[in-house]
Amino acid sequence: MAKLYVNAAVKKGKMNKEIQGHFSEHLGRCIYEGLYVGEDSPIPNTNGMRNDVVAALREMKLPVLRWPGGCFADEYHWKDGIGPKESRKKMINTHWGGVVEDNSFGTHEFMELCRQIGCETYINGNVGSGTVQEMSEWVEYMTFEGVSPMADLRKANGHEAPWRVNYFGVGNENWGCGGNMRPEYYANEYRRYQTYVRNYKSNEWIYKIACGPSGDDYDWMKTLLETLSDRNGRGADRFVNGISLHYYTVPDGEEGWDKKGSATDFDKAAYYKTLRKTNYMETLLKNHIAILDSYDPENRIGLIVDEWGTWYDVEPGTNPGFLYQQNTMRDAMVAAINLNLFNKYCRRVKMANIAQLVNVLQSVILTEGEKMILTPTYHVFNLFKHHQEGELLESSIETEEIGIEEGHPIRNLTESVSMDAEGGIHITVANLSADQSCPVEVEIAHKQIGAVQAEILTNEIHAKNTFDQPDTVHTECFDELTVENGSIRFTMPACSVMHLAVE
Ligand code: AHR
Repeated sequence: MAKLYVNAAVKKGKMNKEIQGHFSEHLGRCIYEGLYVGEDSPIPNTNGMRNDVVAALREMKLPVLRWPGGCFADEYHWKDGIGPKESRKKMINTHWGGVVEDNSFGTHEFMELCRQIGCETYINGNVGSGTVQEMSEWVEYMTFEGVSPMADLRKANGHEAPWRVNYFGVGNENWGCGGNMRPEYYANEYRRYQTYVRNYKSNEWIYKIACGPSGDDYDWMKTLLETLSDRNGRGADRFVNGISLHYYTVPDGEEGWDKKGSATDFDKAAYYKTLRKTNYMETLLKNHIAILDSYDPENRIGLIVDEWGTWYDVEPGTNPGFLYQQNTMRDAMVAAINLNLFNKYCRRVKMANIAQLVNVLQSVILTEGEKMILTPTYHVFNLFKHHQEGELLESSIETEEIGIEEGHPIRNLTESVSMDAEGGIHITVANLSADQSCPVEVEIAHKQIGAVQAEILTNEIHAKNTFDQPDTVHTECFDELTVENGSIRFTMPACSVMHLAVE
């Protein structure tokens, strides 16, 4: 029996809803086909946005969406994507698949998509191949309410009122596809570019995000903070609100980038290896947070994990530049591990964005023509949505080691717990074992346990949804639990994720 202890009297910070954020890039079939089909499409749409996809994203309570990239962001020139569609520039998306980018989805369309979803906006600007003026004018175009060349241009293009830009990324992966910069050089460029990311009155303020490290590049994090600080190593928060971190789970990455492993055809060893590599996120969070703590002891700068998720070989027969992959219960476990970790580290993790929303990498939705399926990862987000804006509660769980025989030991259970505004408690717990169920007993201190409701996602590790069988993996109500003597008891099936709501 694994005991899960919760202390309802100890609150450890707010779980920003943005921890459950998403990322959409002009890559493969994410934007075009996945989200946007155009007003004239036979696929039911509103102003070009797929109705089925938007409805599913609203149900999942998608809180914030990052756009237009990724590597695409540092090649994107926003003025190519405004004005009459027939006169927008057509070009080759050199980074992703060499296909024609007709710029029919631009700033107005992104803002319309966010309006329909009801989410916040995270725009990623171009440092790698753009200019300070271009970035500054984009912010003016989107957010200035008065009379100015860019505000007037926006109005001439049919949008009178300014939009709200919540988050703005100053470049993406500038250590790589965003210009191959060294950390000190980027940090100085960041200081200059961000100066002109202005806060106009109607927008209140923009949360500015600097390009942070890839994985364990602690030197990038330190040099960035050092260069943004005063001589006494403080004050970086004058320039920056958040620093990004990118870390993907690549099962076989070390054997070569062209052999990452199949999304669907894997053995138990690969399953545990994938989860073990996902757990490495905790090491990264701890170490980057320690660096942040030393430069920013007041905890003013957020850690923004704006790219995470699994990265496998593409589905056979698909364009290698489109990064299209299937999604199984293994991905559901990856999502549960990471989302529980982000919750636990919410003192510093202010936003996280899984890559990517539709049809690319670890997507929550896959589409094929007019068909749409919800992936196992979607269902995990749907279970976790109850944590949004909750208070992290002190909690811990007894675990045991599994995956030893397969050579990739991990702890079998992962959890996080929050309290919502009404005092209700939400517990998300995952049993990562491929084949062993696990009895669990929840004890909650400083709270009378009232009604308990639970939903579960469980299936065999390879289970997935397909366009022919779209509902193989789905959530169900779970009522095989007992509440006795102040504790909740149930058995978690192998490979399962559960949400318990405790009144
Ligand atoms: O998500 C795919 C790519 O991964 C992004 O464009 C880039 O930022 C990262 O390397």
